[in-house]
Amino acid sequence: MEIIQNDLILRAARGEQVERVPVWVMRQAGRILPEYREVRAKAGSFINLATTPELAAEVTIQPVDRFGVDAAIIFSDILVVPEAMGLPYLMEEQKGPVFPNVIRSKEDLKNIRLANPEEDLAYVLDAIKIVKKELNGKIPLIGFAGAPFTIYCYMVEGKGSKTFSQAKKMLYAEPELAHTLLQLITDSTITYLKAQIAAGANLVQLFDSWAGILSPAQYSEFSTKYMQQICDAIDEVPVTLFAKGAYFAREEMGKLNCQTIGLDWNMDIAESRKLVGPNKTLQGNLDPCVLYGDFATIKKETTHMLEQFGKQRYIANLGHGVYPDIHPDKVACFIDTIQSW
Ligand code: CP3
Repeated sequence: MEIIQNDLILRAARGEQVERVPVWVMRQAGRILPEYREVRAKAGSFINLATTPELAAEVTIQPVDRFGVDAAIIFSDILVVPEAMGLPYLMEEQKGPVFPNVIRSKEDLKNIRLANPEEDLAYVLDAIKIVKKELNGKIPLIGFAGAPFTIYCYMVEGKGSKTFSQAKKMLYAEPELAHTLLQLITDSTITYLKAQIAAGANLVQLFDSWAGILSPAQYSEFSTKYMQQICDAIDEVPVTLFAKGAYFAREEMGKLNCQTIGLDWNMDIAESRKLVGPNKTLQGNLDPCVLYGDFATIKKETTHMLEQFGKQRYIANLGHGVYPDIHPDKVACFIDTIQSW
């Protein structure tokens, strides 16, 4: 069995005792670091960077070297799964992801297939293998994927959106088609996560970034149902579910076969603990905007967060990804406050 020197995050996820609270930061790889922008410039584009294993590995390690976080997260994107299913994406400067082809009808399903990670996503698996070698057992590596519902949103809508009304339209107008697509995504995601684990990922997180656009009943039908299949299929490593905005689904998610539930900053900590129950680890949940404050404010807010969560069954993080214009020293302050608490 693999020995990891600092396994605080894995122990916290499994509900074992820890001597201090572990921390990592969503979107820690990339965005905020000048050393990231240098490598990205060298790569020429986000997609070149993400598909070149040596460079993806390099930017994965950067926040580990700079901040001493308790886990690395593999540098990639949730949108590599639709691409592997036959829907390629473009990453437009300032605008974000765009899909030239989308799924709007049964006909469109003919253009997609189940992902074959060993073939279509070999570049991610290779990056994981390089990172594992470089980490040399120092800290765990987190693998990830989008939750099926969030991936469905991009495959139907074709780009980011405030409302995802095209994606929601299909839920009402053609629920069967939506379910067929969600099942294809789920099956692709399970094989992809298992491939990441085989390559060396020590924990996996599902990002349900657009959970907040659904009603509670729709969320059970179109999201939880599929996350449950993934949780039940993955028993090799701990699984974290992060559903942004799904405050209404906390109790239901607490019943799934996962180890950790991620909270955003809208979710009250004590209330979340009550809803989720004692047998899950919680992760989160500082408002990323706190990091625009001065160092004293960051320390005060972070300490307040720690006091509310307590030391056990907890992995500290922000309540969503760190914003691109946050100064790295502010992130360092957040991390140091946690690690010295
Ligand atoms: O966490 C990490 O540091 C690992 C890398 C990572 C990226 N994307 C790299 C990235 C992770 C975990 C993601 C997840 C992701 N991607 C999510 C879920 C998390 C969340 O924020 O809710 C979503 C919704 C996406 C889709 C996506 N990718 C969008 C909307 C965008 C454009 C805007 C943005 O977030 O920057 C991306 C691009 C992207 N993914 C960048 C990075 C570093 C920026 C691209 C660049 O360098 O130009």
